[in-house]
Amino acid sequence: MREMKIAIGSDHGGFHLKEHLKQYLTNQGVEVLDFGTFSEESVDYPDIAEKVGRAVAAGEPQRGILICGTGIGISIAANKIRGIRAALCADVFSALMSREHNDANILCLGERTLGVGHAEMIADTWLHGVFQGGRHTKRTAKITNLDKDR
Ligand code: RB5
Repeated sequence: MREMKIAIGSDHGGFHLKEHLKQYLTNQGVEVLDFGTFSEESVDYPDIAEKVGRAVAAGEPQRGILICGTGIGISIAANKIRGIRAALCADVFSALMSREHNDANILCLGERTLGVGHAEMIADTWLHGVFQGGRHTKRTAKITNLDKDR
C-alpha cells in the first residue's frame, strides 16, 4: 500500500479499534492522518464524522475510515456531507463491493460488532479495492446528483 494516505477518526466507542488500525496500517506504509478522538472520554460521533468527511470531500486525503460503537451513527452522519459515500461494512465481501461498485470513499466500522482480526481484513480489502467504473459510473453519478437537492 505504497504512497497511500487516509484519514481516520472515531468516537469513544471506536477509540481502541481506531488506535489499533492506525498502528496496523502505519506498519504497512500507509500514511494515516488521525482526526481524533484521542481518549476514551465521551464525544459525539457527528463531530468526528464531520472532520473526516470534510477532509475527504475536499480530497485531502481522498479516503477515510470512521469507527464508532456500531458504525451506524458515524456512517449516517458522514453521508450527510456532500461528496461522501460512506459504507458501513461488517464483512469482507461488502467491503470489496463498496469499492468496486459504489466507489465508497469512507469505510465505517463498529468496534463493538467486529473482532480486531476481522476489522483488519475488512480494512485491507477496502483499501485495496478498486472502483470498476463502467455501468457503476452512471449510478454513482446519480448519487452525486442527489447532493444537489440539499
Ligand atoms: C456511543 O455510546 C455509541 O452510541 C456510538 O459509538 C455509536 O455506536 C453510535 O452509532
